[in-house]
Amino acid sequence: MSDTKDLLSNYDARDIIEKDKKHLWHHMVQHKIFESQDPKVFVEGYGARIKDIDGNEYLDGASGGVWCVNVGYGRESIAKVIYDQLVKLPYYAGVAGTIPAAQFAEKLTDLLPGLDHVFFAGSGSEANEKAFKMVRQIAHLNENTKSKVLYRDRDYHGTTIACLAASGQPEREEAYGPFPDGFVSIPHALCYRCPFGLTYPDCNIECARALEDVIQEEGPETVGALILEPITAGGGVIPPVEEYYPIIQEICGRYDVILIIDEVVCGFGRTGTMFGFEHYDLTPDIVTMAKGMASSYAPISATAVSSEIFEKFVHDPSRKYAYFRDISTYGGCTAGFAAGLENLRILEDEDLVENARVVGDYLCDRLRELSDYEYVGDVRGKGLFAGVELVEDKSSKTPVSEDVMNAVVREIAEEGVLVGKTTRSIPGLNNTLNIAPPLIVTRADVDEIVDAVKVGIERGCKQVLG
Ligand SMILES: Cc1ncc(COP(=O)(O)O)c(C=O)c1O
Repeated sequence: MSDTKDLLSNYDARDIIEKDKKHLWHHMVQHKIFESQDPKVFVEGYGARIKDIDGNEYLDGASGGVWCVNVGYGRESIAKVIYDQLVKLPYYAGVAGTIPAAQFAEKLTDLLPGLDHVFFAGSGSEANEKAFKMVRQIAHLNENTKSKVLYRDRDYHGTTIACLAASGQPEREEAYGPFPDGFVSIPHALCYRCPFGLTYPDCNIECARALEDVIQEEGPETVGALILEPITAGGGVIPPVEEYYPIIQEICGRYDVILIIDEVVCGFGRTGTMFGFEHYDLTPDIVTMAKGMASSYAPISATAVSSEIFEKFVHDPSRKYAYFRDISTYGGCTAGFAAGLENLRILEDEDLVENARVVGDYLCDRLRELSDYEYVGDVRGKGLFAGVELVEDKSSKTPVSEDVMNAVVREIAEEGVLVGKTTRSIPGLNNTLNIAPPLIVTRADVDEIVDAVKVGIERGCKQVLG
């Protein structure tokens, strides 16, 4: 057997690419393309920069591709606390406690007033699954039928079958049905393509009020919860208008609907507040989180709940449904807790949430300068979290094709910047570039990103559209 250290540090680039092509199944990728091109293989990163195996360096405008490396690359202090913790105790199942689990649980609940218990797992999808299971079990405990979960069109909540059932992105779902019953959609909140054909502010915020119509149609006695991303991420970066959430909150309160806020993307500073819902003065009953929670140095997720919800699961053990009978093996890995604690320390000590707000405002302002450009239909965002929706024709808002998007992203990469894009999510509307760099970026980095985006749009659109 070869030495592992040697395998990871002494390699031949061509050999790695061949191994990759032969054995590695890339996520979300049609492997046919690798008949004519090589897969991208990344080797190292520092700060907001990342290098591939051919030595090309990029400014990572997508924080690891899926907006998760919030504190940037090369954080030795995170690696060190993980190392120390793993040597001491790598694991014990979540049936018991560990020192980093208790420390991290307390820190998280300090950040989330009103929520006082967290349930750990290994991915954002799992965190949302736990929330759905809690909702269903509460209905059993209360001997009622309030087990349906409402979700919003265009939102995404994860890759498992129930999370897909609770996601409003039909292209992600079409190959994977049938889905479980009990998940029902409400309209999305994107003004640029208002589902009611109205124009803000003369719209009475119908997208929020529609929640009540859906609850009425389904029967209030059947609706247990509503899950929302505070700002839709993969569905096109959609911050709702400020009047939206107070209406949602009021309707949830009136119909006794548990409000689950999915902070998997927005959490941990991405939007310029620690959690995305803080922009909107919301009081969620459950908050789910992952990604930026440990900046993806280790897998970790959590479902944080109010004491009211937690107390529903504390009973005489002989009672049916007395406790939350749920476990995720990797909810007991101590690396994630240690990484999460150090990640929070870095966010706080380096004031990165504030940086995301200030430099994020600059990013959004600079991107809005592109609004006059012929292919830019809409620019949206909050903090270091922005979307640029591309259209072939501004008056008809005809979205650009997937080929155009691919060309644009490729051309932006040619300029040395990586950005994301909506991919096979909303039928016909996968036309938004996603820009979400690590929270450490400076104005100069933002200038570099925006300049590359500008050139990439121009060249990519011209290449395909002529
Ligand atoms: C808003 C949101 N929720 C949940 C998830 C699922 O997280 P994971 O991929 O860790 O299961 C994602 C993943 O992108 C997400 O964007």
